[in-house]
Amino acid sequence: MTDALTIIKSRTSANNFDPTHVMTAAEIEELVSYAQETPTSFNQQNWRIVAVSSADRKAALKAVAYGQAKVSDAAVCFVLVGIKDGYKELGRLVKPLLEAGAIDQAAYDGWIGMANGMYAENTQLQHDEAIRSASMVAMTLMLAAQDKGLVSGAMIGFDPAGVAKEVGLGANELPVMLVSVGRAAPGNWPRKPRRAVSEQLKIV
Ligand SMILES: Cc1cc2nc3c(=O)[nH]c(=O)nc-3n(C[C@H](O)[C@H](O)[C@H](O)COP(=O)(O)O)c2cc1C
Repeated sequence: MTDALTIIKSRTSANNFDPTHVMTAAEIEELVSYAQETPTSFNQQNWRIVAVSSADRKAALKAVAYGQAKVSDAAVCFVLVGIKDGYKELGRLVKPLLEAGAIDQAAYDGWIGMANGMYAENTQLQHDEAIRSASMVAMTLMLAAQDKGLVSGAMIGFDPAGVAKEVGLGANELPVMLVSVGRAAPGNWPRKPRRAVSEQLKIV
């Protein structure tokens, strides 16, 4: 395991992946288990991942991702799915904290009630939260991949309706991002320049 700051500084987007590399289900599950540590609003965990790993399904996904080679060259292309009504499951998700005595009934009721009050009638916020959560998960996934000696490439270059159909998304689900993960092939670009901190930071 490498320290977090080194991982953050060394991650870059890969375009070239070793097409012979295969990831096992256990390796894929381990990566996603790290992604699960990503925080979400009210801990609603309003996301899921479809890990596209077979050659034929990757080819089909590539066809709805403007033919981007990394979709099929990488061992796995993860489809990050945002769920718009994840808040509805908070009762079940928060219950273990209540049962363990970590929170009392009033805190439990307040938690669920506040989330329902915020999201139930606000479809814009439901949409934004789905994008927000899945995007944060994408970052955790890429950092975990980096730590495992793999490379990654995030993509929004895809036809949302095509991806939704290909991986079978429900009406309340959004295809937020594709993230290819695998072993690097030669020829990837070096780390790209960033703006000056002063351009992006204001301390008030
Ligand atoms: C949300 C998002 C969408 C992206 N979409 C694509 C894409 O469709 N195709 C692609 O080649 N790169 C895509 N990229 C990669 C970016 O171009 C890349 O992250 C950016 O140039 C910074 O480079 P770095 O990741 O190496 O630091 C995307 C990155 C992000 C975060």
